[in-house]
Amino acid sequence: MEENKDLKIEKDELTGDELLAGHEYDGIKELNNALPKWWLWLFYLTIVFSAVYLLRYHVLKTADLQDAEYAKEMAAAAKNIQANKPATDGTALLTDPANLAAGKVVYDKLCAVCHLAEGQGLVGPNLTDEYWIHGGSMEDIVEIIVKGNPSKGMISWEKQLKPLEIQQVASYIYEMEGTNPPNPKAPEGQIYKRD
Ligand code: HEC
Repeated sequence: MEENKDLKIEKDELTGDELLAGHEYDGIKELNNALPKWWLWLFYLTIVFSAVYLLRYHVLKTADLQDAEYAKEMAAAAKNIQANKPATDGTALLTDPANLAAGKVVYDKLCAVCHLAEGQGLVGPNLTDEYWIHGGSMEDIVEIIVKGNPSKGMISWEKQLKPLEIQQVASYIYEMEGTNPPNPKAPEGQIYKRD
């Protein structure tokens, strides 16, 4: 910073302090206490910041103010909750094509390796026959997917899948019964008669 040229500085004869020449009132002299440079720059920075802020938030409106931001986040959260909420109680059979298609996506990605693409069974049991180890109702199917049976090679999917995804993939599997794919695995478990 350049010093103000109008100000004349003189030295106090006794103490050597810098004084502002001519700033003497009733014998009291004014010291030249210049602001530290770091403080001044910080001050200028806040001015620049406020200009940018004003332009961005109030003139150009390219960013949201707090209220708008809050409203947007709340709306997004509400949408998220809605999207992950099971359609009913999480074990009801979903029969509409969109949910079954979503179930198939999960199945093909995570389950087909062991149960095969058409559910005929490989490492995991055949999911297309009437025989079920853990029962063939929607509740039973959801339960084994949620809890798994790790000692037999079926892990719990609770942490990797959202409740709705579990309901979708369970519905997809439920609908597999009776599809008779080629080369099915031999039945395991007991015959489960659906109502
Ligand atoms: C690593 C192999 C493996 C993967 C991957 C796998 N499973 Fe299984 N699954 C098994 C085995 C093994 C069993 C039999 C468990 C038992 O004997 O209790 C089984 C059992 C089941 C049963 C019960 C069948 C019955 O007869 O009662 C269902 C339903 C099932 N799995 C669904 C799924 C779903 C849905 C996925 C994907 C999200 C999946 N599995 C992924 C191996 C697997």
